Amino acid sequence: MPHATTSNITVHPIPPRPGATYTIGAELHGTNLSSLSPQDEEVIKHALYTHQVILFKNQSSLTPAAQFAVTRLFDPLATSYGHGATLDAKKSILHPDLKTIPSQPQVQVIGNGFVPEYEGLKDITLKHPHHRTFHATPVTEKDDRNATRFYRWHIDAALYDLDPPMATSLLAVKVPRTQAQTLRYDDGTGDELRVPRGSTVFVSGETMYDVLSDADKAFARDTRVVYAAHPYIWMSGARSRSTGLGMVSEDRELSPSQLPPIDVDKIKTLPMCWKNPVTGKLALQIHPSAVQKLILKDGTVVDDLERVREIVYRLQRPGIAPELVYAVDWEEGDFAVFNNRGVLHSVTGSFLPEEVRVFRQCNMAASQLVERSEA
Ligand SMILES: [Fe+2]
Repeated sequence: MPHATTSNITVHPIPPRPGATYTIGAELHGTNLSSLSPQDEEVIKHALYTHQVILFKNQSSLTPAAQFAVTRLFDPLATSYGHGATLDAKKSILHPDLKTIPSQPQVQVIGNGFVPEYEGLKDITLKHPHHRTFHATPVTEKDDRNATRFYRWHIDAALYDLDPPMATSLLAVKVPRTQAQTLRYDDGTGDELRVPRGSTVFVSGETMYDVLSDADKAFARDTRVVYAAHPYIWMSGARSRSTGLGMVSEDRELSPSQLPPIDVDKIKTLPMCWKNPVTGKLALQIHPSAVQKLILKDGTVVDDLERVREIVYRLQRPGIAPELVYAVDWEEGDFAVFNNRGVLHSVTGSFLPEEVRVFRQCNMAASQLVERSEA
Protein backbone atom coordinates (compact mmCIF):
# COMPACT_ATOMS: atom_id res chain seq x y z
CA MET A 1 0.00 0.00 0.00
CA PRO A 2 1.49 3.37 -0.97
CA HIS A 3 2.33 5.84 1.78
CA ALA A 4 2.24 9.61 1.50
CA THR A 5 5.77 10.92 1.46
CA THR A 6 4.84 14.54 2.00
CA SER A 7 2.69 16.33 4.55
CA ASN A 8 -0.37 18.47 3.78
CA ILE A 9 0.49 20.82 6.62
CA THR A 10 1.39 24.36 5.60
CA VAL A 11 3.22 26.87 7.81
CA HIS A 12 2.18 30.53 7.85
CA PRO A 13 4.27 33.00 9.88
CA ILE A 14 2.05 35.33 11.90
CA PRO A 15 2.73 38.91 10.80
CA PRO A 16 3.70 41.13 13.75
CA ARG A 17 1.23 43.85 14.69
CA PRO A 18 2.04 47.33 13.28
CA GLY A 19 5.25 48.72 14.77
CA ALA A 20 6.37 45.40 16.24
CA THR A 21 9.49 43.55 15.10
CA TYR A 22 9.25 40.13 16.75
CA THR A 23 9.81 37.17 14.46
CA ILE A 24 8.06 34.41 16.42
CA GLY A 25 4.69 32.78 15.83
CA ALA A 26 3.28 30.73 12.95
CA GLU A 27 -0.10 29.22 12.17
CA LEU A 28 -0.16 25.66 10.90
CA HIS A 29 -2.96 24.72 8.53
CA GLY A 30 -4.12 21.37 7.24
CA THR A 31 -3.53 19.31 10.38
CA ASN A 32 -5.45 16.48 11.94
CA LEU A 33 -3.78 16.45 15.35
CA SER A 34 -5.42 13.15 16.31
CA SER A 35 -3.85 11.35 13.37
CA LEU A 36 -0.44 12.63 12.40
CA SER A 37 1.79 10.92 9.86
CA PRO A 38 5.55 10.80 10.47
CA GLN A 39 5.88 13.48 7.77
CA ASP A 40 3.36 15.69 9.58
CA GLU A 41 5.31 15.25 12.80
CA GLU A 42 8.51 16.38 11.08
CA VAL A 43 6.81 19.51 9.70
CA ILE A 44 5.42 20.36 13.15
CA LYS A 45 8.76 19.83 14.88
CA HIS A 46 10.62 21.93 12.34
CA ALA A 47 7.98 24.68 12.59
CA LEU A 48 8.25 24.77 16.39
CA TYR A 49 12.01 25.18 16.41
CA THR A 50 11.90 27.73 13.58
CA HIS A 51 8.99 29.87 14.80
CA GLN A 52 9.10 29.12 18.58
CA VAL A 53 5.31 29.41 18.98
CA ILE A 54 2.98 27.48 16.69
CA LEU A 55 -0.77 27.86 16.59
CA PHE A 56 -3.48 25.48 15.37
CA LYS A 57 -6.96 26.96 14.99
CA ASN A 58 -10.32 25.22 15.65
CA GLN A 59 -9.06 22.46 17.97
CA SER A 60 -11.92 22.52 20.51
CA SER A 61 -12.47 18.78 20.13
CA LEU A 62 -8.85 17.87 20.93
CA THR A 63 -8.89 15.36 23.79
CA PRO A 64 -6.50 15.60 26.76
CA ALA A 65 -4.91 12.37 25.50
CA ALA A 66 -4.33 13.88 22.05
CA GLN A 67 -2.94 17.06 23.62
CA PHE A 68 -0.52 14.94 25.61
CA ALA A 69 0.48 13.02 22.47
CA VAL A 70 1.18 16.18 20.45
CA THR A 71 3.14 17.78 23.29
CA ARG A 72 5.19 14.61 23.64
CA LEU A 73 6.26 14.73 19.98
CA PHE A 74 9.08 17.00 21.11
CA ASP A 75 10.30 14.57 23.76
CA PRO A 76 8.98 11.04 23.20
CA LEU A 77 10.73 9.67 26.31
CA ALA A 78 9.16 12.20 28.68
CA THR A 79 6.42 10.90 30.92
CA SER A 80 5.56 13.04 33.94
CA TYR A 81 4.28 16.59 34.39
CA GLY A 82 6.95 19.31 34.23
CA HIS A 83 6.65 20.23 37.89
CA GLY A 84 6.33 16.63 39.05
CA ALA A 85 4.83 16.43 42.51
CA THR A 86 6.44 19.67 43.67
CA LEU A 87 3.13 21.48 43.21
CA ASP A 88 1.77 19.62 46.22
CA ALA A 89 3.76 21.84 48.50
CA LYS A 90 1.15 24.23 49.85
CA LYS A 91 3.64 27.05 50.16
CA SER A 92 4.55 26.88 46.46
CA ILE A 93 3.49 29.98 44.57
CA LEU A 94 2.27 27.73 41.75
CA HIS A 95 -0.10 25.69 43.87
CA PRO A 96 -3.33 27.70 43.53
CA ASP A 97 -3.17 28.11 39.77
CA LEU A 98 -3.45 24.55 38.48
CA LYS A 99 -5.98 21.69 38.58
CA THR A 100 -4.89 18.27 37.27
CA ILE A 101 -7.08 16.33 34.81
CA PRO A 102 -7.66 12.91 36.42
CA SER A 103 -7.44 10.89 33.19
CA GLN A 104 -4.29 12.64 31.96
CA PRO A 105 -2.22 14.00 34.84
CA GLN A 106 0.28 15.75 32.57
CA VAL A 107 -2.56 18.08 31.54
CA GLN A 108 -3.65 20.86 33.89
CA VAL A 109 -6.70 23.10 33.81
CA ILE A 110 -6.07 26.79 34.35
CA GLY A 111 -8.32 29.79 33.95
CA ASN A 112 -10.80 31.90 35.86
CA GLY A 113 -14.17 31.56 37.56
CA PHE A 114 -16.46 28.72 38.58
CA VAL A 115 -16.68 25.63 36.35
CA PRO A 116 -19.33 23.03 37.35
CA GLU A 117 -17.81 20.15 35.37
CA TYR A 118 -14.89 19.73 33.02
CA GLU A 119 -12.99 16.55 32.02
CA GLY A 120 -13.73 14.71 35.25
CA LEU A 121 -13.20 17.74 37.50
CA LYS A 122 -16.30 18.91 39.36
CA ASP A 123 -17.19 22.26 40.95
CA ILE A 124 -13.79 23.79 40.42
CA THR A 125 -13.02 27.44 40.97
CA LEU A 126 -10.18 28.76 38.84
CA LYS A 127 -8.32 31.95 39.58
CA HIS A 128 -6.48 33.89 36.92
CA PRO A 129 -3.17 34.93 38.45
CA HIS A 130 -3.25 38.63 39.23
CA HIS A 131 -0.03 40.59 39.45
CA ARG A 132 -1.06 42.14 42.77
CA THR A 133 -0.30 38.77 44.38
CA PHE A 134 3.26 38.84 43.05
CA HIS A 135 4.44 42.39 42.28
CA ALA A 136 5.92 44.70 44.91
CA THR A 137 3.89 47.68 43.67
CA PRO A 138 0.71 46.71 41.80
CA VAL A 139 -1.46 48.85 39.56
CA THR A 140 -4.00 50.78 41.69
CA GLU A 141 -7.55 49.43 42.16
CA LYS A 142 -8.86 52.39 40.19
CA ASP A 143 -6.75 51.52 37.12
CA ASP A 144 -7.03 47.77 37.45
CA ARG A 145 -9.78 47.15 34.90
CA ASN A 146 -7.90 48.98 32.16
CA ALA A 147 -4.26 48.46 33.05
CA THR A 148 -2.27 45.30 33.51
CA ARG A 149 1.30 44.01 33.82
CA PHE A 150 3.39 41.07 32.76
CA TYR A 151 2.53 38.78 35.68
CA ARG A 152 5.76 36.77 35.69
CA TRP A 153 8.18 36.16 32.82
CA HIS A 154 9.30 32.56 33.03
CA ILE A 155 10.26 29.26 31.53
CA ASP A 156 7.98 26.36 32.50
CA ALA A 157 10.33 24.43 34.74
CA ALA A 158 10.56 22.99 38.24
CA LEU A 159 14.25 24.04 38.26
CA TYR A 160 14.94 21.54 41.03
CA ASP A 161 15.54 17.85 40.33
CA LEU A 162 13.57 17.86 37.04
CA ASP A 163 14.79 19.18 33.68
CA PRO A 164 12.94 21.98 31.86
CA PRO A 165 10.22 20.67 29.51
CA MET A 166 11.00 20.85 25.79
CA ALA A 167 7.59 22.19 24.85
CA THR A 168 4.38 23.36 26.48
CA SER A 169 0.95 23.31 24.87
CA LEU A 170 -2.06 25.47 25.67
CA LEU A 171 -5.62 24.86 24.48
CA ALA A 172 -8.08 27.75 24.75
CA VAL A 173 -11.32 26.02 25.79
CA LYS A 174 -13.35 29.02 26.93
CA VAL A 175 -12.34 32.62 26.31
CA PRO A 176 -14.36 35.60 27.55
CA ARG A 177 -14.15 38.34 24.94
CA THR A 178 -13.89 41.66 26.74
CA GLN A 179 -12.05 44.93 26.34
CA ALA A 180 -8.31 45.03 25.66
CA GLN A 181 -5.98 46.36 28.35
CA THR A 182 -2.93 48.57 28.44
CA LEU A 183 0.03 46.64 29.74
CA ARG A 184 2.34 48.95 31.67
CA TYR A 185 5.98 48.32 32.44
CA ASP A 186 5.96 51.00 35.19
CA ASP A 187 9.76 50.96 35.31
CA GLY A 188 10.35 54.61 34.44
CA THR A 189 10.75 53.97 30.71
CA GLY A 190 7.16 54.79 29.79
CA ASP A 191 7.02 51.51 27.88
CA GLU A 192 3.55 50.09 27.43
CA LEU A 193 1.71 47.75 25.15
CA ARG A 194 -1.94 47.24 24.19
CA VAL A 195 -2.89 43.59 24.81
CA PRO A 196 -6.07 41.55 24.48
CA ARG A 197 -7.36 40.88 28.02
CA GLY A 198 -5.75 37.67 29.27
CA SER A 199 -3.22 37.51 26.45
CA THR A 200 -0.32 35.12 26.90
CA VAL A 201 2.81 36.98 25.86
CA PHE A 202 6.00 35.54 24.42
CA VAL A 203 9.47 36.86 23.67
CA SER A 204 12.18 35.03 21.79
CA GLY A 205 15.20 34.01 23.83
CA GLU A 206 17.16 34.03 20.58
CA THR A 207 16.31 37.68 20.00
CA MET A 208 17.06 38.41 23.66
CA TYR A 209 20.54 37.03 22.98
CA ASP A 210 20.94 38.67 19.56
CA VAL A 211 20.31 42.22 20.83
CA LEU A 212 23.15 41.99 23.38
CA SER A 213 26.54 43.61 22.80
CA ASP A 214 29.35 41.26 21.79
CA ALA A 215 30.81 41.50 25.30
CA ASP A 216 27.49 40.61 26.91
CA LYS A 217 27.01 37.74 24.47
CA ALA A 218 30.38 36.33 25.47
CA PHE A 219 29.52 36.77 29.16
CA ALA A 220 26.19 35.00 28.65
CA ARG A 221 27.81 32.12 26.77
CA ASP A 222 30.36 31.61 29.54
CA THR A 223 28.18 32.06 32.64
CA ARG A 224 26.12 29.43 34.42
CA VAL A 225 23.08 30.01 36.58
CA VAL A 226 22.48 28.25 39.88
CA TYR A 227 18.78 28.08 40.69
CA ALA A 228 17.47 28.12 44.24
CA ALA A 229 16.51 24.79 45.80
CA HIS A 230 12.70 24.46 45.86
CA PRO A 231 12.58 27.80 44.02
CA TYR A 232 8.81 28.38 44.09
CA ILE A 233 8.70 27.90 47.83
CA TRP A 234 11.94 29.82 48.35
CA MET A 235 10.53 32.90 46.55
CA SER A 236 7.03 32.64 48.09
CA GLY A 237 7.54 35.63 50.37
CA ALA A 238 9.41 37.74 47.83
CA ARG A 239 7.96 40.26 45.38
CA SER A 240 8.48 40.95 41.72
CA ARG A 241 9.67 43.94 39.78
CA SER A 242 6.93 45.87 37.98
CA THR A 243 8.03 44.34 34.67
CA GLY A 244 7.47 40.79 35.99
CA LEU A 245 11.08 40.13 35.00
CA GLY A 246 12.60 38.91 38.25
CA MET A 247 12.38 39.92 41.87
CA VAL A 248 13.21 42.95 43.94
CA SER A 249 15.72 42.19 46.67
CA GLU A 250 14.18 42.75 50.09
CA ASP A 251 15.51 39.69 51.96
CA ARG A 252 12.10 38.06 51.82
CA GLU A 253 13.26 34.69 50.46
CA LEU A 254 12.78 31.69 52.76
CA SER A 255 15.88 30.40 54.53
CA PRO A 256 17.00 26.78 54.05
CA SER A 257 15.50 25.85 57.44
CA GLN A 258 12.09 27.03 56.20
CA LEU A 259 12.27 24.86 53.05
CA PRO A 260 11.66 21.14 52.59
CA PRO A 261 14.85 19.07 52.93
CA ILE A 262 17.39 20.01 50.28
CA ASP A 263 19.23 17.39 48.27
CA VAL A 264 22.20 19.27 46.84
CA ASP A 265 22.38 16.84 43.93
CA LYS A 266 18.97 18.10 42.79
CA ILE A 267 19.95 21.76 42.63
CA LYS A 268 20.00 22.92 39.00
CA THR A 269 22.99 24.67 37.50
CA LEU A 270 22.18 25.55 33.90
CA PRO A 271 23.90 27.55 31.17
CA MET A 272 22.57 31.04 30.43
CA CYS A 273 22.43 30.25 26.71
CA TRP A 274 20.52 27.25 25.45
CA LYS A 275 21.01 25.88 21.96
CA ASN A 276 18.13 25.34 19.55
CA PRO A 277 18.32 21.62 18.66
CA VAL A 278 17.27 22.22 15.03
CA THR A 279 18.80 25.56 14.03
CA GLY A 280 21.72 25.64 16.47
CA LYS A 281 20.90 29.24 17.42
CA LEU A 282 21.50 30.37 20.99
CA ALA A 283 18.73 31.65 23.21
CA LEU A 284 19.27 33.60 26.42
CA GLN A 285 17.18 31.40 28.70
CA ILE A 286 17.17 32.43 32.33
CA HIS A 287 14.25 32.02 34.72
CA PRO A 288 14.70 35.43 36.32
CA SER A 289 12.78 35.00 39.57
CA ALA A 290 14.36 31.64 40.50
CA VAL A 291 17.99 32.68 39.98
CA GLN A 292 20.15 32.49 43.09
CA LYS A 293 23.83 32.50 42.06
CA LEU A 294 26.00 32.87 38.98
CA ILE A 295 29.16 30.93 38.17
CA LEU A 296 31.51 32.94 35.96
CA LYS A 297 33.91 31.60 33.35
CA ASP A 298 36.85 31.56 35.77
CA GLY A 299 34.84 29.71 38.40
CA THR A 300 34.04 32.75 40.52
CA VAL A 301 30.68 32.37 42.23
CA VAL A 302 28.55 35.51 42.46
CA ASP A 303 26.24 34.88 45.40
CA ASP A 304 25.15 38.39 46.37
CA LEU A 305 21.50 37.95 45.39
CA GLU A 306 20.86 41.62 44.64
CA ARG A 307 23.91 41.77 42.37
CA VAL A 308 22.99 38.49 40.66
CA ARG A 309 19.54 39.88 39.89
CA GLU A 310 20.93 43.18 38.59
CA ILE A 311 23.24 41.34 36.20
CA VAL A 312 20.46 39.11 34.90
CA TYR A 313 18.00 42.00 34.61
CA ARG A 314 20.41 44.10 32.58
CA LEU A 315 20.85 41.21 30.16
CA GLN A 316 17.15 40.36 29.86
CA ARG A 317 15.33 43.70 29.93
CA PRO A 318 16.15 44.74 26.32
CA GLY A 319 14.57 41.49 25.11
CA ILE A 320 11.12 42.34 26.52
CA ALA A 321 10.86 45.74 24.76
CA PRO A 322 7.26 46.28 23.57
CA GLU A 323 8.12 45.75 19.91
CA LEU A 324 9.59 42.31 20.71
CA VAL A 325 6.53 40.98 22.54
CA TYR A 326 4.13 38.65 20.73
CA ALA A 327 0.77 38.92 22.52
CA VAL A 328 -1.58 36.09 21.61
CA ASP A 329 -5.19 37.12 20.95
CA TRP A 330 -6.83 33.88 22.09
CA GLU A 331 -9.93 32.55 20.40
CA GLU A 332 -11.78 29.45 21.59
CA GLY A 333 -10.32 26.36 19.94
CA ASP A 334 -6.82 27.84 19.59
CA PHE A 335 -4.15 25.28 20.39
CA ALA A 336 -0.64 26.67 20.79
CA VAL A 337 2.61 24.83 21.35
CA PHE A 338 5.74 26.73 22.30
CA ASN A 339 9.43 25.95 22.45
CA ASN A 340 9.84 26.22 26.20
CA ARG A 341 13.62 26.20 25.79
CA GLY A 342 13.58 29.08 23.31
CA VAL A 343 11.06 31.60 24.65
CA LEU A 344 10.12 33.35 27.85
CA HIS A 345 6.41 33.80 28.45
CA SER A 346 4.03 35.44 30.87
CA VAL A 347 0.39 35.59 31.82
CA THR A 348 -1.20 39.04 31.61
CA GLY A 349 -4.53 40.55 32.48
CA SER A 350 -7.20 40.64 35.13
CA PHE A 351 -10.69 39.19 35.06
CA LEU A 352 -13.85 39.61 37.08
CA PRO A 353 -15.00 36.42 38.86
CA GLU A 354 -17.91 36.05 36.40
CA GLU A 355 -15.58 36.15 33.40
CA VAL A 356 -15.14 32.40 33.05
CA ARG A 357 -12.07 31.26 31.21
CA VAL A 358 -10.79 27.72 30.77
CA PHE A 359 -7.47 26.62 29.31
CA ARG A 360 -5.64 23.31 29.28
CA GLN A 361 -1.88 23.30 29.71
CA CYS A 362 0.46 20.36 29.15
CA ASN A 363 4.18 19.84 29.53
CA MET A 364 6.50 17.12 30.70
CA ALA A 365 9.74 17.20 32.64
CA ALA A 366 12.33 16.59 29.94
CA SER A 367 14.17 13.37 29.33
CA GLN A 368 17.04 15.43 27.90
CA LEU A 369 19.41 17.90 29.51
CA VAL A 370 19.58 21.49 28.31
CA GLU A 371 21.87 21.81 25.28
CA ARG A 372 24.93 23.78 26.25
CA SER A 373 25.96 26.95 24.47
CA GLU A 374 29.40 25.72 23.44
CA ALA A 375 29.70 24.87 19.81
FE1 LIG B 1 4.02 29.01 31.97
